[in-house]
Amino acid sequence: MSTECPRDLIATVERNDLFASTPQSQNKSRHYGFLQLRIPQAQTILPGQFAMLKKHGIYEPLLRRAMAYYRVTRHDGSTSVEFIYQILGRGTESLSTMRVGDPVDYLGALGNTYDVQATKDKNALLVVGGVGSAAVFMLAEELLKQGTPTRLFIGGASRGDLLGYDDFVELLGKENCISATVDGSEGERGFVTTPLERHLQANANKPTVIYSCGPDAMLHATAKVADKYQIPAQLSLEAPMACGIGICVGCAVAVKHDCAEGFVYKKVCTDGPIFWHEELHW
Ligand SMILES: Cc1cc2nc3c(=O)[nH]c(=O)nc-3n(C[C@H](O)[C@H](O)[C@H](O)COP(=O)(O)OP(=O)(O)OC[C@H]3O[C@@H](n4cnc5c(N)ncnc54)[C@H](O)[C@@H]3O)c2cc1C
Ligand code: FES
Repeated sequence: MSTECPRDLIATVERNDLFASTPQSQNKSRHYGFLQLRIPQAQTILPGQFAMLKKHGIYEPLLRRAMAYYRVTRHDGSTSVEFIYQILGRGTESLSTMRVGDPVDYLGALGNTYDVQATKDKNALLVVGGVGSAAVFMLAEELLKQGTPTRLFIGGASRGDLLGYDDFVELLGKENCISATVDGSEGERGFVTTPLERHLQANANKPTVIYSCGPDAMLHATAKVADKYQIPAQLSLEAPMACGIGICVGCAVAVKHDCAEGFVYKKVCTDGPIFWHEELHW
């Protein structure tokens, strides 16, 4: 966990680039934003942590939205933080209207971090889909620093939905970035769990840890693969969040527990967002 308390600050927009992906055979585009903010303080931010963000000075929507840190650059007395967001509803639409220099309500860094030590002398497989890739870029950097052989399995509807793909290729090398798209526009056609499983079959004797973030369906499929090959997996969950700091209990998730019900509730914002797959009562 971070040694620092979360800070509630006004950050400033340094960059907010919008882009879209239109999968073949679908008329509907997905819209995304790449947001870079400057925080007026030095902050320690760990892989897998997130921030709660809102355009400053607006009351509609009232609540901030949770966003995983993509990349962080420390400066003298300030920090640049980058996010990749999908424009879905009111909160992310309002983020997309922000311009360079605009003030932003920023609360971070929140949540726990990936267990990087778990891969000591093991291989790491990062399994991500959609905006879930944002949550593992810093993890990939940390694993490389530690000397852990790291391979990315990245999936999406189309080429344009493989968010951060070029940055991962630069970091890990093309041979370590395996992609799958539903429309076949990049990598293998289909879901990313297919090449993942093929890799595990071919490397059955190599101790491995999976780290995953993405849509619920992909996390469930990844957990099933982890069970099948008896591999520990850390999953980063995306629950609806109102406060991000453990007060509203809006982000509860059931985790296994030795009691009559067989589970208790934990908070994704403060106990997570990262959980071992075996803990989750799905
Ligand atoms: C820890 C954490 C990290 C996150 N990191 C990122 C990130 O890096 N990039 C990013 O784009 N998003 C991320 N999210 C999800 C993001 O917070 C939501 O997409 C956002 O709050 C939606 O707000 P909105 O007002 O635009 O949409 P809303 O108006 O709240 O919802 C619009 C539509 O999107 C659906 N929706 C809302 N939230 C989610 C969700 N989490 N998953 C799937 N569908 C949803 C709603 O059901 C509704 O249909 C993260 C969430 C968590 C909890
Ligand atoms: S978001 Fe409020 S308790 Fe988790």
